[in-house]
Amino acid sequence: MKKLYGVIGSPIQHSMSPLIHNDAFLQLGIDAHYHAFHVLPKDLEAAVVGLKALGVAGFNVTIPHKKAIIPLLDEVDNTALKIGAVNTVVNENGKWTGYNTDGPGYVAALKQITATENKHILIIGAGGAARAILYSLVKEPGAKVDIFNRTPEKAQHLIEEFSLQGTSRAVTMAEVVGNMPNYDVIVQTTSVGMHPHIEDSPVQIATLKKNAIVSDIIYNPLETDLLKQAKLKGAITQNGVQMFVYQAALAFQYWTNRVPDVHRMEKIVTERLGGTTC
Ligand code: ATR
Repeated sequence: MKKLYGVIGSPIQHSMSPLIHNDAFLQLGIDAHYHAFHVLPKDLEAAVVGLKALGVAGFNVTIPHKKAIIPLLDEVDNTALKIGAVNTVVNENGKWTGYNTDGPGYVAALKQITATENKHILIIGAGGAARAILYSLVKEPGAKVDIFNRTPEKAQHLIEEFSLQGTSRAVTMAEVVGNMPNYDVIVQTTSVGMHPHIEDSPVQIATLKKNAIVSDIIYNPLETDLLKQAKLKGAITQNGVQMFVYQAALAFQYWTNRVPDVHRMEKIVTERLGGTTC
């Protein structure tokens, strides 16, 4: 019988997940369908119960449910618990088990463009996305991570919560500017620069080192002002499409034990967003 997967969130109508998962099912000859379900916060609990009753095999979780779903699941893996957010749920013998593929997906995407050992990294932002990325990034050998956030206490709180006082620091804007020539990797996790405020940029990168990596998890626009400036400085840049498709590919593997064609996913998403890939 055809297996059913999906994503729950609100809003959900612009989700590109159905596009890439349904294509991957087709490519791999898997008899399954992936559907976007609009679920309001007040209906989350009923949706989780209902999806199980309907025999749904697994689903993704997006804004605003990634945290709220945790107590509604039968089991949650340790990484997702530490991150405090679930984006992937698997029906394991009738039990809903929650995982987080955002952090691991980001690191997998970053590894496509650079080796990750012994990097001095600046994370911009201290919200949910930064949290998932930080948790996974600091597992890379020799990673030294600074965090800059508009609200500095949140960055400090994150460092303390993950017990990273030895290697990580919450930095001020002045420190970001001063340290800029030392950063190997800059990861932009806030909504600054997102459509429609596309001329905004969260930090000045005038003294960015050549060949630095600048990664922005935004994909609308495909190239934020930060990435444009970074390119002009000779940096290697990456937009949010790769993180998006790698988190999707990891979710797909949890559900099917099959590895989808990530480059094909990337091409589909980029073209949908009006860009081109080679
Ligand atoms: P997400 O889950 O996408 O990370 P979030 O948890 O709401 O969303 O976090 C948003 C992040 O973007 C935060 O780091 C936030 O900074 P604050 O902690 O100071 O709120 C940052 N952010 C959002 N809008 C911003 C803006 N206009 N300028 C600077 N930072 C901004």
